[in-house]
Amino acid sequence: MVMFKVSRVETTPFDGQKPGTSGLRKKVKVFKQPHYLENFVQSTFNALGADKVRGATLVVSGDGRYYSKDAIQIIIKMAAANGVRRIWVGQNGLLSTPAVSAVIRERVGADGSKANGAFILTASHNPGGPHEDFGIKYNMENGGPAPEGITDKIYSNTTTIKEYLIAEGLPDVDISTTGITSFAGPEGQFDVDVFDSANDYVKLMNYDALHGVAGAYAKRIFVEELGAQESSLLNCVPKEDFGGGHPDPNLTYAKELVARMGLGKTDTEQDPPEFGAAADGDADRNMILGKRFFVTPSDSVAIIAANAVQAIPYFSGGLKGVARSMPTSAALDVVAKNLNLKFFEVPTGWKFFGNLMDAGMCSVCGEESFGTGSDHIREKDGIWAVLAWLSILAYKNKDNLGGEKLVSVEDIVRQHWSTYGRHYYTRYDYENVDAGKAKELMAYLVKLQSSLPEVNNIIKGIRSDVSKVVNADEFEYKDPVDGSISKHQGIRYLFEDGSRLVFRLSGTGSEGATIRLYIEQYEQDPSKIGRESQEALAPLKFMEVMDLDMD
Ligand code: G6P
Ligand code: ZN
Repeated sequence: MVMFKVSRVETTPFDGQKPGTSGLRKKVKVFKQPHYLENFVQSTFNALGADKVRGATLVVSGDGRYYSKDAIQIIIKMAAANGVRRIWVGQNGLLSTPAVSAVIRERVGADGSKANGAFILTASHNPGGPHEDFGIKYNMENGGPAPEGITDKIYSNTTTIKEYLIAEGLPDVDISTTGITSFAGPEGQFDVDVFDSANDYVKLMNYDALHGVAGAYAKRIFVEELGAQESSLLNCVPKEDFGGGHPDPNLTYAKELVARMGLGKTDTEQDPPEFGAAADGDADRNMILGKRFFVTPSDSVAIIAANAVQAIPYFSGGLKGVARSMPTSAALDVVAKNLNLKFFEVPTGWKFFGNLMDAGMCSVCGEESFGTGSDHIREKDGIWAVLAWLSILAYKNKDNLGGEKLVSVEDIVRQHWSTYGRHYYTRYDYENVDAGKAKELMAYLVKLQSSLPEVNNIIKGIRSDVSKVVNADEFEYKDPVDGSISKHQGIRYLFEDGSRLVFRLSGTGSEGATIRLYIEQYEQDPSKIGRESQEALAPLKFMEVMDLDMD
């Protein structure tokens, strides 16, 4: 057995290692600076505490973006030096974010071990490559992202760090071949277990009884129409038409898929498929499309919740509750109210759902940012969302299989709107804004909140057909499980007719600032739910002519 020693390396803090909405994301060249990654990893170990780290089993993997392989070797050596007992690595360092969550919760090592946490190496939907982004985040024992209590500690450690530990004499481990390699350190044995990422994930999906539920509908669409092998269905679905470019599943970046579904600017498709889906780099985000039809993420989670008990066997016992992030539309709220379900509104970021799920208060949740998931794991899950939709399609077509009149994705969404009303919704992103100016603008929007009559005057001066602002605040969340409080989670303007404007600074960028503006309007009148969304929302876009200096 190869032996290693522990070496202490002196270091000094780097500015700006504060984890954002979902971990630390920076340009690759920033991460490649000597000690940069090491400082963050050691700060994480220190935040967890030696008693949690010694003897632990940790997963290290990611979406395979540039610099991952180097980072994995560094983390293995640092883990060894910090007394970690086992590192689990997906073959070639590849594991989707939801797969990591599933592995933490379900995988049992050959010696009966279970994982205590994970370093996920991803910048999600941000582009990858030597000139693009790298990222790292830590997930806890429940499989979910570290809560703010831990990320705040990590950050504060990065500002005072003086040294980190790294194994000396431990060679790079071959992560391309599955199997366990053991080493001997000062505190005993250290194992690196490389396992087959794909097999494991598919098995876990089976375990959750989600693999087969798509049934005959999936067969008809994916096997008969697209010619996919039935056995490869799970692997094929999330990969369709993304790869290269900007790996973000939305109408802008999933161009090929959008065109293939008959949603392109010039629609040349003769007969688009009935169902299309895209996922992001680490496969936790999803976009659901029907033939010439886009399902907004806010509607998607509401429709999944409305149909889950009937359509998805995993939920046949009932939903424990549902939740959405604050800027996500209130479509889910209406479902919760109608079905008498527990409902929670949390700040943006998947980590806020974990506590609710661990406490048995939430089964299904989602965000406007193309994230949908359930309590089968503690991350959002692109494959799960696709399977959930296929299950709903199968259920809605159960009396109709092979029949000529298909209940389409669009039919399902329109039926939903006619039952629950429609939430017209759109989001504007002002990217690459000067960070200082963005802060000033946010401060101004907060200041305006102290005088609603003034706000209403400004609005009336621009458009007379906008309802009145009756409430305005900054969203603040008190976690009902652990009582922790998260402040400044978005600036809200609430209108008399239920419309909403929300302003937020993005927490996932790697440079500069991005301001997001979310616009929403609720329409219950069945004669008015079929309008073009941009047209229905036109009155609320009054600030396009205001001098907010957002460009
Ligand atoms: C990541 C998180 C999501 C969150 C999103 C918000 O994808 O996992 O939970 O909704 O970031 O991004 P933003 O750029 O708006 O902060
Ligand atoms: Zn992602």
